[in-house]
Amino acid sequence: PSFLILNGPNLNLLGTRQPEVYGATTLADIEAMCRARGADLGIGIDFHQSNHEGQLIDWVHAARGRHSGIVLNAGAYTHTSVALMDALSSVEVPVAEVHLSNIHRREPFRHHSYISKVAVGMICGFGAYGYVLAIEALRDNLNLPD
Ligand code: DQA
Repeated sequence: PSFLILNGPNLNLLGTRQPEVYGATTLADIEAMCRARGADLGIGIDFHQSNHEGQLIDWVHAARGRHSGIVLNAGAYTHTSVALMDALSSVEVPVAEVHLSNIHRREPFRHHSYISKVAVGMICGFGAYGYVLAIEALRDNLNLPD
């Protein structure tokens, strides 16, 4: 089995972007953490980032029949993108939503998520470790073999 891990806009700047909010961990660090945990669990990891909504949607479409699950940090598209939500509904691949920050203790415009409407569950506020938690939680949810 393999998981698709998708990262939305501005997450390429992690490490230097508002470190007081998002921490010092870079996206490359997160990718390494995900690959290591995936290898432990026998799950292949495809890891991507884009600042473009359409590119994220294309990757979601391509996951159909190819990946067992999607771990998604859609960045600000979380709060705006009906198109990404629709893409996730269309492909019927289970989704774990992740946010580094606790979006519910931030500005009100971050409290609503279109992604949550189509996700199995959501992990937020635990920084980079949330990605690892999401991999584990999605694996448990799918009852993947040991
Ligand atoms: C984020 C939270 C979003 O509100 C924000 O737009 C991001 C990052 C997070 O990981 O905490 O870009 O998804």
